[in-house]
Amino acid sequence: MKFVGHVETPAPDDNSLQTMKAVILAGGMGTRLRPLTNLMPKPLIPLVDKPLILHIIDSLPESIDTVFLAVNYMKDVLEDYFKRTPGKEVILVEEREPLGTGGALKNVGRYLDDTFVACNGDIISSIDIASMIEEHHLKGGIGTIALWRVSDPSAFGVVSLSEDKRIELFQEKPKRGEACSNLINAGIYVFEPEILDFIGDGFVSLEREVFPKILNRGLYGYSFDGYWVDCGVRENLLEAQRILLSQRGEIHLNSKVDVKAKIIPPNFMTNAEIGPATVGPGVCICDRSVVHNGAQISNSLLMENSVVGKGAVVRNSIIGPNARVNDGETVENSILV
Ligand code: GTP
Repeated sequence: MKFVGHVETPAPDDNSLQTMKAVILAGGMGTRLRPLTNLMPKPLIPLVDKPLILHIIDSLPESIDTVFLAVNYMKDVLEDYFKRTPGKEVILVEEREPLGTGGALKNVGRYLDDTFVACNGDIISSIDIASMIEEHHLKGGIGTIALWRVSDPSAFGVVSLSEDKRIELFQEKPKRGEACSNLINAGIYVFEPEILDFIGDGFVSLEREVFPKILNRGLYGYSFDGYWVDCGVRENLLEAQRILLSQRGEIHLNSKVDVKAKIIPPNFMTNAEIGPATVGPGVCICDRSVVHNGAQISNSLLMENSVVGKGAVVRNSIIGPNARVNDGETVENSILV
């Protein structure tokens, strides 16, 4: 009898060759960015050259082949956007009602059978997720949490680390002066699927309810340098815009800029019309927006089809789509829709 067999190819040891999945938590209502988030979900707010969520998707390493977006608020708007947008495979997983950061992960759990990346959908950072995944495999714990150093950690989830970077303690928003360290949870994670066993049904907070329960399973910290911004409030969204603009310099795409305009770089504009006005630094002007004579705009975002009238002043503000700043009006530290 002739035996026909085949030799199994050994699985590669190198974890970087494996494809992985990522979950982006994008179901929040973005209440702190109202009234802008009454018009659009936070992930689709324009940040320089593309919506906030695309900055996150594009920063994922090549090894991530499928991205799950855990969605709830304005799910249809997000669905419509991704139908029209080429790129990595993005699968929207809906929660009928918001389940919190832990419940949202659990809701995607049926697709997660191996090490996966999870992150908040409103973080802009310079983290190298491929290197974080490598470190996660080296440590061999149930999870690795990206950590960012701040001077005042009282508004954040704070961790203390052992010598070998194991997380020993979690403090959620400690009082000033009582924080165990200045390392905060940066909202970017690598997890083993076993974490899902520690998430109960319904609304569950990953930070408050799950992390403290799994410290003995090996939860590690991964700190990084560069930049990290939680874009949940206007000031921070504009800070993220400033960081990205400073990397790109002055860019005018298909825009008509009056020769007498005073442009202070860096700024980004597409299909805009700028009269003899002062623009910059740190301004993004989206499609079909118009800036009239004598206006002054700095550190602001003008969304599509907006108008800034003659002699108007816009500082540290977001002007929503189709909104108008009247002649001579001053808009400062606000969101105008
Ligand atoms: P605020 O209402 O302004 O606090 O914003 P938010 O609703 O986005 O909440 P927060 O900034 O605390 O959320 C951090 C990240 O988690 C964001 O990317 C949210 O979209 C996401 N998130 C928060 N709660 C939920 C939820 O219940 N389900 C899902 N899928 N994502 C959530």
